[in-house]
This record gives sequence, C-alpha cells and structure tokens, in this order.
Amino acid sequence: MILRTLIKTIRDLWKQGYEELKFFSRPDLEVRLLLEKAACWDLKDIFLHLNDPCPSDLARRFKRLCLQRKKGYPLALLLGWKEFWSMPFRIKKGVFIPRPETETLVELALQLPWPENGLVADIGTGCGTIACAIAKERPKAKIIATDISRRAIRLAQENARHLHLKNIAFFSGSLFNCLSSHGLGKEFDLIISNPPYVAESEWSSLSLAVRNYEPKRALVAGPTGLEYIFKLIEGAPFFLRPGGFLAFEFGFGQLEAILTFLKKQGWREIQWKEDLAAVPRALAARWG
Ligand SMILES: C[S@@+](CC[C@H](N)C(=O)[O-])C[C@H]1O[C@@H](n2cnc3c(N)ncnc32)[C@H](O)[C@@H]1O
Repeated sequence: MILRTLIKTIRDLWKQGYEELKFFSRPDLEVRLLLEKAACWDLKDIFLHLNDPCPSDLARRFKRLCLQRKKGYPLALLLGWKEFWSMPFRIKKGVFIPRPETETLVELALQLPWPENGLVADIGTGCGTIACAIAKERPKAKIIATDISRRAIRLAQENARHLHLKNIAFFSGSLFNCLSSHGLGKEFDLIISNPPYVAESEWSSLSLAVRNYEPKRALVAGPTGLEYIFKLIEGAPFFLRPGGFLAFEFGFGQLEAILTFLKKQGWREIQWKEDLAAVPRALAARWG
C-alpha cells in the first residue's frame, strides 16, 4: 500500500508514486503530473525540492491522487486539464476528454483550401478543442462552436476565454438545428466535427475509465455507430456555400460505409488521413 514505507523527502514520495503507478504505460509522466498537481509546482520546482523534507499534507494529497488514479480515474480529470494542439484545455467530468487522434482531423482541415477569413462550424465541440485549434491557426476566420450539452458549451467558452481566442461564438443545440435557429444557411466554408461514432453494442467493451467518467451521449451514436456521421453528410449541404468542405473524424472499420454513402449523396474530392497508429481517422469532402 502506498506510503507504507517512510517518506522523508520529495524524492521518496516520487519513488513511492512510481511503485504505485508502475503498471500504467508511462508511470514517470503520471507521477510527475500528479506531483505537480499535489504540490502546485512545475517540473523545475520538483527537481529543486527533490532532497527537501516532504510536508505531510503534500504526501496526503499526492497519495489521494495516486489512489484515485489506480482505481481508474482518468488522469485528465484528476489534473483538471489536457493538452491538445499544444494548448492546455480545462476538463470537467461530464464532458468528453479530448483524444490526441483528433489532431489528425485538425491537420486535415487546415490543409483544405478554404479562405483564411472563412466561416467555420464545429459541431459537437465538447470542451472546445477543434474550434480553438482552428481559431488559433486561422485568426481571421470566424468559428461557430455548437454542442447539445450546455455543460460542454460552458466549458468550451471558458477554454476559449482562457486561451484568449476571440473569433469563436458558441451555440447550444442539436446538430444543425442551432445554426438554422440563428438564421444561418448556406454560408459555411467548413463544417467540422468529431461526432459520436461508437455503436451501441460496443459501449460495454469500452474501458471502465471511459464508461464511468465520460458521457455516453458523447461517444455512442446508435445501433451502427454511423448514425451521426450520416446525419452530418445529409445535413451539411444545407449549410455549406458551393465548394465548401465537410471534415469529420470516424472510427475503425467505418471508412468503406462512409465512402459509399458520401458518393451516393454526390460529394466530391473525398480524401482521408490516417492517425499516428496508421488507422484511417479523418475524412474531408467537398460539396457543390
Ligand atoms: C466525441 S465528442 C467530441 C468533442 C470534441 N469535439 C473533441 O473532439 O474533443 C462528441 C460531442 O458531440 C456532442 N453531441 C452529441 N450529440 C450531439 C448532437 N445531437 N448535437 C450536437 N452535439 C452533440 C457531445 O456532447 C460531445 O461533446
């Protein structure tokens, strides 16, 4: 059990944490981040204090964090933040935790030839990662970020404010409804989304860390997993200007069905990009 051995210094605390978390894939990183959190230090402070006596309240806070982590509590929720596109995003329970593979979608979207000052919609923005990444890279663009979850929208607004990104507006509502209810029509240059794409039957096979701490509505689309993606493909033409793009993330094994549907609906210039694990992950297509 943690802290059974005598903790005299910060170095001892670090070693104990490593012992506890050694079954995670990157125990060094876990220990470092949890110690930073418990002590309100950065890495430089930790190294400066390694041989200092360890205050008992710090040891208690660190022990609590390590125990929660061991029980499967997501690291991002313990820390309260997660990095995406080299920016720190605040994270709260009840809102989807951003995944690194979504950066593939941002990369693809930034390679598309849409105007620098274009109008972009991020559907299902979660904590605002995609909208903020695009806003950072295209400061002249105007981005509208939407989500069905008010909690997500509040968090995304907080993130945009904290990252000093002023070119994003936030609407709450389902899919395209909140665009039409604000009088918006065929004027978008890019519609981008990381939608729910897990099939209902796959939910029980996801890790407990996901099922216990992330909202099912953010992940599960319906019986096939393709329901939201198909709604995006069907709905986007009513909101894209001629020549505008739809770009979205999708799951393992979904590419063929998506390609067939896109072609049937008349989309052109279809391209997709693999993530770092060489899995096809993000797709873009042009309308009109
Ligand atoms: C997979 S998460 C992606 C979040 C964020 N874009 C990201 O990449 O980290 C899907 C998001 O879609 C939202 N969502 C689910 N159903 C929706 C709907 N009908 N309309 C709009 N957003 C929806 C969820 O609340 C969730 O935030």
